Amino acid sequence: MQISLVGINHRTAPVAVREKVAIRAGNLGDFLELFRSHVSQGVILSTCNRTEVYTVTNNGIQARELSLNFLQTHLDIPDATLHRYTYALEGEAAVEHLFRITCGLDSMIVGEYEVLGQVRQALEVAEKAKMVRLPLRHLFQDAIRTGRRVREETGISRNAFSVSSVAVDLAARSIGDLASCKMLVIGAGEAGRLAAKAAKDRGVSQVIIASRTRERASTLAAALGGLPISMNELAGELNTCNLVVACANAPHWLLDESHVETAMKHRPELPLVIIDIAVPRNVAPAVAQIKNVFLYNIDNLTKVSKQNQKQRKEEIERAVKIIAAEMAEFNAWWRALEVRPVITALMKQAEDIRSAQLNKTLKKLRPLSDEEQANLAAMTKSIVTRILQNPIRHLKESTNTDGEHAEIINELFRLDMES
Ligand SMILES: NC(=O)c1ccc[n+]([C@@H]2O[C@H](COP(=O)([O-])OP(=O)(O)OC[C@H]3O[C@@H](n4cnc5c(N)ncnc54)[C@H](OP(=O)(O)O)[C@@H]3O)[C@@H](O)[C@H]2O)c1
Repeated sequence: MQISLVGINHRTAPVAVREKVAIRAGNLGDFLELFRSHVSQGVILSTCNRTEVYTVTNNGIQARELSLNFLQTHLDIPDATLHRYTYALEGEAAVEHLFRITCGLDSMIVGEYEVLGQVRQALEVAEKAKMVRLPLRHLFQDAIRTGRRVREETGISRNAFSVSSVAVDLAARSIGDLASCKMLVIGAGEAGRLAAKAAKDRGVSQVIIASRTRERASTLAAALGGLPISMNELAGELNTCNLVVACANAPHWLLDESHVETAMKHRPELPLVIIDIAVPRNVAPAVAQIKNVFLYNIDNLTKVSKQNQKQRKEEIERAVKIIAAEMAEFNAWWRALEVRPVITALMKQAEDIRSAQLNKTLKKLRPLSDEEQANLAAMTKSIVTRILQNPIRHLKESTNTDGEHAEIINELFRLDMES
């Protein structure tokens, strides 16, 4: 049994590729149904930084092929793109990767909190789709617990940034003083909330919040002191704002060249900074060609993220130590899980032999009292236990993770693993 993962992330692929494989939270259940036709258990994790599929099978190479096939078939990605940008990890490497993700070490913004919720959600959706059994459940639960522990015991998330807050920082570098700035936030989900909050914290004077559903914009605007609008009011606000942070969960562009060109005609001399942190992107890349428009996407935050990583170097080292300790525990649990059927079959075989031989012997002896029979049974049990004690301990404690020792025992003793 092996844990395998195949994925694409912000280190291996630019946003233009990641957006093609991004699966929106609302669609995860449907994609799990499609994944089911390839593997019997699996979890799909899709965030702005990555899309990864996890599975547990008896054959790592086959699992990789099945997962790649799933991504290719259902996300419509050309073969060459997929092979160029994907990575595949197995066994302990896959486990470590997920632990690093939940601890925020694999994020563009090290220590960010949001990823922990996203992993939890990925597990919940997979549970609901009945795509999770014990090994995957335990892996994800351990990874989530480790993510929480690292945040409690290290300073990795102290004054944590989020992608949204870093976007507002980038805007401050580009625009200068944000105080007199009029900012438009497109999207009223978690990313929109964090962007609007970061803007308020940095003293942005006017924050307009746009959402497809006006009520959602209103709720966020009321909580943070902004002005709510619906998507069809975007054009009017674009005419006068200085900064746009786009973070709606739309599968298509919400702003294209014609929208922005029209807006710029009303304010040709007033620069417009647009930071599009959505994956898939909300703003057509060609908008960057328009005069006085400065368009950034999520990958342009990398510079800030590298600085953030440098500042948190010591905390990262502490987190890595916690991950190593938690992984050792997980690996011990995994080994025990792997050898459990063999140990059970071995003990059952020994017990069947013991009781059959004891009964045979009892028939040959003069009638024994209950006490004598109990003593004989206890003695034979103790012989069996003593003989099996060391091999069983060795199986449980062996650091061999590919189940080789269990396989040898199985073959040597010709165990009946089905019963
Ligand atoms: N969460 C983060 O920390 C984070 C970080 C970096 C980047 N991002 C990116 O930011 C985007 C939003 O993430 P989120 O976590 O905030 O998601 P979310 O909570 O699901 O976002 C919901 C927002 O997207 C709008 N929306 C959904 N489908 C839409 C559609 N078809 N057309 C127009 N608007 C639509 C919703 O409008 P309604 O009013 O209709 O609900 C709502 O305003 C994603 O692309 C994500 O990858 C998120």
